[in-house]
Amino acid sequence: EVKHFPKEEGLDHSLDLLKEGYLFITNRSTAFQSDIFETRLLGERVICLRGREAAALFYDPQKFKREGASPNRIQKTLLGKKGVQTLDDEAHHHRKAMFMSLMTPVSLQRMRALIKKEWDIAAKKFSQEKEIILYDEAKKVLCRAACDWAGVPLKENDVEETANLLGLLFETPAALGPKHWQGRHARTKLEKWLKELVIEVRNGNFIPPEDKSLFIISNHRQLDGELLDADIAAVELLNILRPIVAVAVYICFTALAVFQHPKEAGKLRSNDENLLQNFVQEVRRFYPFFPFAPARVKADFTWNGYSFEENTLTLLDLYGTNHHPKLWDNPELFQPNRFSNWKDSPFSFIPQGGGDYDFGHRCAGEWVTIEIMKETLNFLVNKISFAIPDQDLSYSFNDIPALPHSKIIMKEIHLK
Ligand code: HEM
Repeated sequence: EVKHFPKEEGLDHSLDLLKEGYLFITNRSTAFQSDIFETRLLGERVICLRGREAAALFYDPQKFKREGASPNRIQKTLLGKKGVQTLDDEAHHHRKAMFMSLMTPVSLQRMRALIKKEWDIAAKKFSQEKEIILYDEAKKVLCRAACDWAGVPLKENDVEETANLLGLLFETPAALGPKHWQGRHARTKLEKWLKELVIEVRNGNFIPPEDKSLFIISNHRQLDGELLDADIAAVELLNILRPIVAVAVYICFTALAVFQHPKEAGKLRSNDENLLQNFVQEVRRFYPFFPFAPARVKADFTWNGYSFEENTLTLLDLYGTNHHPKLWDNPELFQPNRFSNWKDSPFSFIPQGGGDYDFGHRCAGEWVTIEIMKETLNFLVNKISFAIPDQDLSYSFNDIPALPHSKIIMKEIHLK
């Protein structure tokens, strides 16, 4: 049976995407009562997918490719050119293996210890301040930890500016006008800095530890035996530093969840690692961050009666899959306990993409993210006390990335 995609009328729905943001695909999936439909965005036909079966299809590397999938405005800010996100097949597996080699249990523990140290130092400062903005402080903490973890030298005087530049890379991809251009300029500046550093490493003028990202990326050999172009090495180094700083978004949502769910937060006083883990997983499921993953059809195929034509842009709804009413009980309730006997599936819980780490595009940094969040949650609940003054804690589903509008103002911070 050949099926027609449910399809919305109209020449282009890019403005609706801007208006509806994270809910764009969910709204239409609900209206069509279908986890698959077609629309038009930025002047081209686009297939939208949501849910577990659709995610399994999307992450089948025989069916979808990443070549040409990311819009230019995303490459100019968030991703850069010719990094791991744009590769397919053997070239992708080889580059991805380089990233995954950085994610050993020892290096994850090193990150956790760094985050603990940085929050301890920051807390002493916070206790002297009238109030702090958690988002801005988290970006600085994460920037120091990211550079240390990656072996990138960073002077204390440069922390604030570097944290802000790295922040612009993920704050501006969907922005319009001057804000968006700030992101492009930030990328130019950061790539120049890291490219020069890679050249210094290759010349032997700067010697980073051999197990750190700077060393490994600078000396990485491609399948043809050649080193990466220094520009691309800089892009890949930013693929480490940028998303670590982006965990600041999840840190704000973690603090919001602690504030909104004092009973759940109270359970964490026991310092139980499993409870920390469940809470963090629920933060990553519940709050919006990365909206959709993009790919293109590799070659014509048919799936469940729908025909997919070569090169068609296809978006997988990450946020909507994490809230799918068929996959989650009461998806709109914040319930960390749902993860206590949750059967792991690579396609239903996909805040950082789904499928396989080594042979697909699933986020290389998912484990690092979880370690950072657990240590930060422990800090917020067990190491300090604080007050949340009146402020606008709401967030908008059409801001990408969404963030509590006040960026979480905290005061009366005391070490416990
Ligand atoms: C890919 C989300 C943190 C490194 C991705 C993807 C998503 C994502 C949605 C793409 C999945 C796809 O295209 O199918 C996030 C979120 C994070 C985060 C929400 C929280 C801040 C990190 C961290 C690192 C990292 C901390 C590194 C330390 C990467 C890399 C890729 C990637 C290298 C490309 C993987 C590939 O193309 O094969 N991430 N990520 N991410 N992420 Fe993350």
